[in-house]
Amino acid sequence: MNFKYQKSTKINSKEAIVYIIENSSSIENLGLTNQQLKYVKSRFKEKTECIELNLYTHQMFLFKPTKEKDETLRLEKYRLEGANIATKLSKLGLSTVQIVGADRDLTLALSEGLGLKSYGFNKYFKDKKDRESKLKSISIICNKVSKIDVERLNITTAGVFYSRDLVNEPLSFLTATQLSKEIVTLSKEAGFSVEVFGKKKIEALKMGGLLAVNKGSIDPPTFTVMEWKPKNAKNKKPYVLVGKGVVYDTGGLSLKPTANSMDQMKSDMGGAAMMVGAMYSIARAKLDVHVIGLIPATDNRPGLNAYAPGDIVKMHNGLTVEVKNTDAEGRMLLADALSYAQKYKPALVFDAATLTGAAVRSFGTAGACIMGTASDNVFTAIEKSGNRVFERMIKQPFWADYGKGLESDIADLKNLGGPYGGHISAGKFLEHFTDYPWIHFDIAGTAFINKPEGYRPKWGTGTGVRMLFDFFANV
Ligand code: BES
Ligand code: ZN
Ligand code: ZN
Repeated sequence: MNFKYQKSTKINSKEAIVYIIENSSSIENLGLTNQQLKYVKSRFKEKTECIELNLYTHQMFLFKPTKEKDETLRLEKYRLEGANIATKLSKLGLSTVQIVGADRDLTLALSEGLGLKSYGFNKYFKDKKDRESKLKSISIICNKVSKIDVERLNITTAGVFYSRDLVNEPLSFLTATQLSKEIVTLSKEAGFSVEVFGKKKIEALKMGGLLAVNKGSIDPPTFTVMEWKPKNAKNKKPYVLVGKGVVYDTGGLSLKPTANSMDQMKSDMGGAAMMVGAMYSIARAKLDVHVIGLIPATDNRPGLNAYAPGDIVKMHNGLTVEVKNTDAEGRMLLADALSYAQKYKPALVFDAATLTGAAVRSFGTAGACIMGTASDNVFTAIEKSGNRVFERMIKQPFWADYGKGLESDIADLKNLGGPYGGHISAGKFLEHFTDYPWIHFDIAGTAFINKPEGYRPKWGTGTGVRMLFDFFANV
């Protein structure tokens, strides 16, 4: 993150400035000439929401939104306007902007959208300095916004950017081993602890699912354990976050078609990126919750010794799985991590994964699918956090019907379910490896997008980081 948010009390009249106009009469006090005032008033009458004025010494934006009844949509409107302004600032190559507002949530939302839009993944360009955003500071001028609010905006935005970076890194850099190294680096900045298990330890733990998926790869698997345990933790039993870390998914022997399918599969560690970004933000903000993160990681390749359809795999919890399709690999390694999580006797477990094409086909990029065994209260709190940050959660039925197709004639389970609701049968598969309250997040539709949507850039979106931070800050 190249820029910083800061709280400010004084307006600098030579720097770009955004005024949030909630009250029309406040336009009179902005020091505009009569002619400028007349222009602004007539434009606002036409229902224009944002007016850009070039005042020669600086750029001025006046944002006066039309009414929105729904609070979720209202905040989102401000984030989206922040993103529009970010695009304009970037075209002008400006390095500072001030945001002036009266309402805390609305001022923060506009600032957040502006910051989230000011992201680029330029690491691999020779001329990356020329391409980087010039933005260095976003000053927030609002009495109701506290220092902590501003610090948290810095922290969650950095968490989202790291999460996006991880998704955008190709396999040529981000192997399972490298993913673990990146987590170690981030842990030092954020203050959580990390332990990385290599192949030997994974074998000793009998994580058959992770090892099976790794068999076709020449790179070893890793299993990374993160922990944030502050002295003042509110929860006695930990919360556990599990993220799918498939650093590349070729489908294995059940090979994916190349076009429109395999080319984006460097993003198949989006669940890991979400949980790492969340751990980073939770620890850096020193939230008073004890949280453990588990990241099983490997690529899924059709190498010489690759696991094959028909194989029977003994999993970490002793259940056996008949492999019907090696492209249903995410559930194999998540199952081992979910089973490993049992040893913590957790209060609650969340797992996140780019798990199924079915989730993408059902809801596209609009929201993530959630399902599981946690209480209604927890689901409601997650939905609330999702709405607050506009990462919408779509609760799916979790009826036993969807688990029936997982029965196998030769083993305890097979890794494919029935013909309908593929994202739900995947969740039903995972349920066999849990013995605690749990929510599964299928983020296949939201983790990686092909064209920009508002303040979400194309490619890695960093989805879920802000939602989880909001959840744990309010738990
Ligand atoms: N990583 C994919 C799911 C995916 C698809 C993520 C599209 C993002 C965009 C997953 O491992 C997979 O291949 N799932 C299969 C499962 C099937 C074989 C049961 C799928 O959904 O097609
Ligand atoms: Zn797959
Ligand atoms: Zn996958």
